[in-house]
Amino acid sequence: MKYGVFSDVHGNYEALKAVLAFYRRKGVKDFICCGDIVGYGPQPLECVEALSGIKELVAVMGNHDAALAGKLGVKWFNPDAAWAIEFTRGRLTGQAMDYVAGLPEIVETDDFTLVHGSPCKPLTEYLLSENQYTANAKKWTVSPCFLGHTHMPLYFREGPSGAPETDFMKPLARISAASGRVMINPGSVGQPRDGDSRAACGIYDSESRSFELHRVSYDIEATQKLMTRLNMPAELANRLSFGF
Ligand SMILES: [Fe+2]
Ligand SMILES: [Fe+2]
Repeated sequence: MKYGVFSDVHGNYEALKAVLAFYRRKGVKDFICCGDIVGYGPQPLECVEALSGIKELVAVMGNHDAALAGKLGVKWFNPDAAWAIEFTRGRLTGQAMDYVAGLPEIVETDDFTLVHGSPCKPLTEYLLSENQYTANAKKWTVSPCFLGHTHMPLYFREGPSGAPETDFMKPLARISAASGRVMINPGSVGQPRDGDSRAACGIYDSESRSFELHRVSYDIEATQKLMTRLNMPAELANRLSFGF
């Protein structure tokens, strides 16, 4: 089965539309979303409605989704992020809010494990180091483990010597999950932070057990213009141009 794997949409509907159109062109019909559907962006309702309408989608809750649902405080959010949670609260209807509030924190299927931050701390850990990969090892079983939260396309796995190794994934990078235990972060659809402003996403083939990273161009200006019209913090709009 081919899965479209993506994360951190963050209310950027222009980016999400481009990624879903890319998956359509590739014939991908099953999806994995690593959380943070809302927060930061101008169209959280459109994003939630688009994703909640996809039957073949498995999704988990991110920290921004949890904050919206009142399951996590915004104490550690920066002021723009906290502002965006209040903005989002004003835009989501009951049904969309129920969908976000009902997202699980961790999912395990026969094909993969899915979590937003890390298996140890599903909502809050930014998994960026080999030490964190090792510290989480006993908390998950089915490989690959897909995660998000850092907005960085990264993988972690056991190297040939048994020591953990990690690297960033460039477009078209292919990571095998055929042996060993692999964690894969597909990067962010709606607010990339690796210096590439295009939406990041991936395709996982569960038969060949390989993951491929892709970058998809979208109409960044359309998102920014809408954010300006909605009087959203300028920094949230500006950073989209740079992928930071
Ligand atoms: Fe995020
Ligand atoms: Fe997050």
